Amino acid sequence: MPFVEKLVIHGGHPLRGDVQVRGGKNTSLAVLSAALLCDEPVTLENLPDIEDVHVLLELMRRLGARIQRSGRNATIDPRQLTSHRPAPELCRKLRGSYYLLGALLGRVGEGAIPYPGGCEIGARPIDQHIKGFRALGAEVDDRYGMVEARTTGLVGTEVFLDCVTVGGTINVMLAAARAQGNTMIFNAAKEPHVVDTANFLNSMGARVRGAGTDVIRIRGTQRLHGCTYTVIPDQIETGTLMIAAAATQGDVTLHGCIPAHMEALSAKLLEMGVRVDEQDDVIRVRSLGGHRAVNIKTQAYPGFPTDLQQPMSALLTTASGTSTVVETIFDKRFKHLDEMLRMGARAHISDRMAVIEGMPGLLGAPVYASDLRAGAALVIAGLMASGDTEIGNPQYIDRGYEKLEERLSALGAQIRRVMMQE
Ligand code: EPU
Repeated sequence: MPFVEKLVIHGGHPLRGDVQVRGGKNTSLAVLSAALLCDEPVTLENLPDIEDVHVLLELMRRLGARIQRSGRNATIDPRQLTSHRPAPELCRKLRGSYYLLGALLGRVGEGAIPYPGGCEIGARPIDQHIKGFRALGAEVDDRYGMVEARTTGLVGTEVFLDCVTVGGTINVMLAAARAQGNTMIFNAAKEPHVVDTANFLNSMGARVRGAGTDVIRIRGTQRLHGCTYTVIPDQIETGTLMIAAAATQGDVTLHGCIPAHMEALSAKLLEMGVRVDEQDDVIRVRSLGGHRAVNIKTQAYPGFPTDLQQPMSALLTTASGTSTVVETIFDKRFKHLDEMLRMGARAHISDRMAVIEGMPGLLGAPVYASDLRAGAALVIAGLMASGDTEIGNPQYIDRGYEKLEERLSALGAQIRRVMMQE
């Protein structure tokens, strides 16, 4: 039988201490791609050391960008792009590869990507990205699993997105930054990484206004200049660590985060009886247990983020009472709960709703991560459970959390990565 990597957690140890939040995964993917729009080298700081960032940097290298890394920073020189076709096998590894299409279209007028990969959490069409590119004047072929776009010159226009899409909003913004004239994106997503990408574009000399509201205005620019830009902290990593602190009845102080991005989660934790204190870029989470059940409904920002639904539902498995969790963004984002049933959780899933009946505790068991945030949810379940939990497929967790087990160990968790027989 082959050997595979697993995370083994001996649960029941409260997390205590201080932890530094890393730069945003989804922000980094957008901002790195946006760097290709520039006519000069740019330096990006605070990039997380995670698999998705490594893969995107490799994709950009193969397009001809020169990249120099120094710790969490990277200088990207996109002046000599040699290809407009990102390597399909790498694109399929991450969802964020779709940003390369908007960036290439804006910079060199053509690009071709396979349908992007990423977590299997339901249907994830990119029709709104394509609609936006077409509105800007690109010809887009969408056949045989490839999306090919080309233009002799993008022209600013009005784009009304049919649904609130983070990826669609950012991708249209990237292409429009180098179009001729003005673009307005209506029904835009308001997530922190939309704002961060707009701020980065503006640091390069673009003119993007209104990011963070549902109408974004972009005045196209023919030339973008180099800059140094620091990406914002990861909202979802912050939330995952906050939930882990509460779940283990711990006392954790998170540094380098943006409390305003966490309001939806903080409000729910307070409702459950967890203590959350915020000051500047610090959040302290304390819990003595006795959590009350709450109801969650995922929504676009500033609503409760779908990416925290999975970690949060792990916490709810031991809250006192019955919680309902309604997932409105993705249609298959409850696989983590099926795994937690093996740990003694009680959950009834129907379509996009889960009803969770809180139990006094979970029991360690062998489980499998089906995607990134399912993996994070299982880590939280393992930290709460008595006995050992073995989590298969930890590579999903590595896509989005930097050295999670090392950082949790520093907070007192008993978690290690081992090679085991399948
Ligand atoms: N949608 C469409 N058409 C489109 C685009 C989206 O119908 O052209 C639908 C989707 O099917 C979904 C909804 O709109 O029902 C929202 O999708 P969105 O485009 O906002 O999501 P995404 O760009 O595919 C990003 C993050 C996800 C995060 C969502 C929602 C990246 C690389 N991914 O995905 O992050 O869940 O926004 O906030 O930024 C994760 O980090 O674990 C993750 C899955």
